[in-house]
Amino acid sequence: MAETQRPPEQFSFRVRRYDPESGEAPYWDEHTVELEPHRSVLEAILQARDRFDGSIGIRCSCRQAICGSCGVRVNGEPALACHTHLDAALKGASDGVIEIEPMGNMPVIKDLIVDMDAVHWKKVQRVTPWLIAKQPVPEREYIVPHENMVDVTQTMGCIQCGACVSDCLAMEVDPGFIGPAALAKAYRFVGDPRDDQQFERLNDLAQDPQGIFDCTHCFKCVDACPKDVNPMGQIMRLRRIATNDHHIVDQNNGERHEAAFTTLIKDYGLLHEAEILPRSYGGNSWFGKFAPAAGKELLSSLPVVIKGVIRGKFNPKIALFGHKIPKDDLKAVQAIYDKVESREKRYELNLYIAGEDEVEVQPAAAAALTAPSIANGGAEPEAATPPSSEGSEQ
Ligand code: SF4
Ligand code: SF4
Ligand code: FES
Repeated sequence: MAETQRPPEQFSFRVRRYDPESGEAPYWDEHTVELEPHRSVLEAILQARDRFDGSIGIRCSCRQAICGSCGVRVNGEPALACHTHLDAALKGASDGVIEIEPMGNMPVIKDLIVDMDAVHWKKVQRVTPWLIAKQPVPEREYIVPHENMVDVTQTMGCIQCGACVSDCLAMEVDPGFIGPAALAKAYRFVGDPRDDQQFERLNDLAQDPQGIFDCTHCFKCVDACPKDVNPMGQIMRLRRIATNDHHIVDQNNGERHEAAFTTLIKDYGLLHEAEILPRSYGGNSWFGKFAPAAGKELLSSLPVVIKGVIRGKFNPKIALFGHKIPKDDLKAVQAIYDKVESREKRYELNLYIAGEDEVEVQPAAAAALTAPSIANGGAEPEAATPPSSEGSEQ
């Protein structure tokens, strides 16, 4: 049933203004506009620019969540200004005034316009964002298996808005980190069977200290993305193919660090913090701690450990001797490992195509959509939602 249109209401918002060339400090500028509640934050900014202050800097083009130009922060969260309704934004405003700022992790050019070239596009260039075709190129079209195409479609939905980059915690600490958008782009070609450089691409991204193992699994990019690209999921796929399929052992100890996590949970049922570093740097067993590389790493982490103990972040006894869980629970955890490890093929759960049915699907199409495939790991068929057609390949 069509929603009844609500009459215009007043919405107040404050914009963070900054012109680096002026030499003045950033400041807040507040305006009130009158618009229907379903109108967007972008429309509010444009109205204020038309009526009150023509100098407000904002970049936009399509106004339909397609071009990726209007990335900003609304009430502290990354968003597309054209895709954020005023009534929804008002709900997130702590004092009844919608707060609009430029995206993070990128230098401000003016007001809400950030320098995408300096950060985002530079990183996308870093991952060779084009297909390097296998030779010889077929005379006619190259038929890509349906499953592979579904698998890379999620990354093709990226509109390069930079919202994930804006919120990436790893980039905040290490601005050189290749970052979520560029790594999602890398998966676009790593997952494409027509590409000839899968190993080379993965080896490059694994050996780079600011590559796939620099991500801290914080999920911020997953929440930030307006197109459900799930950049963190793409990074995890890159890691799995690099380590499980190509057996790449990287100079950053990323592969060993992940292996340490999984074997510790298999052995103890829960994480054994004191063992992670030695196993990651000294070898994945109890004896790892006696390797010189592990000793060096343990020594350098002592100040952090001491600070953590003083602040009560963890219990030294539990951290040193490990968590104990009941024997039956441990057996249940180990049974999961046995089941997964006994499979001949690794299963990937593609959340993009699994989930609730949102549209009515014809029986024949439903059968095709729910057939087991590589993309959903060949697991039991689940209700499938066709991939969004909103995004465009960049
Ligand atoms: S999950 Fe990784 S890539 Fe995504 S925001 Fe966090 S650190 Fe960045
Ligand atoms: S992955 Fe999502 S948030 Fe990141 S640039 Fe692409 S569309 Fe924007
Ligand atoms: S104006 Fe194009 S995504 Fe917002």
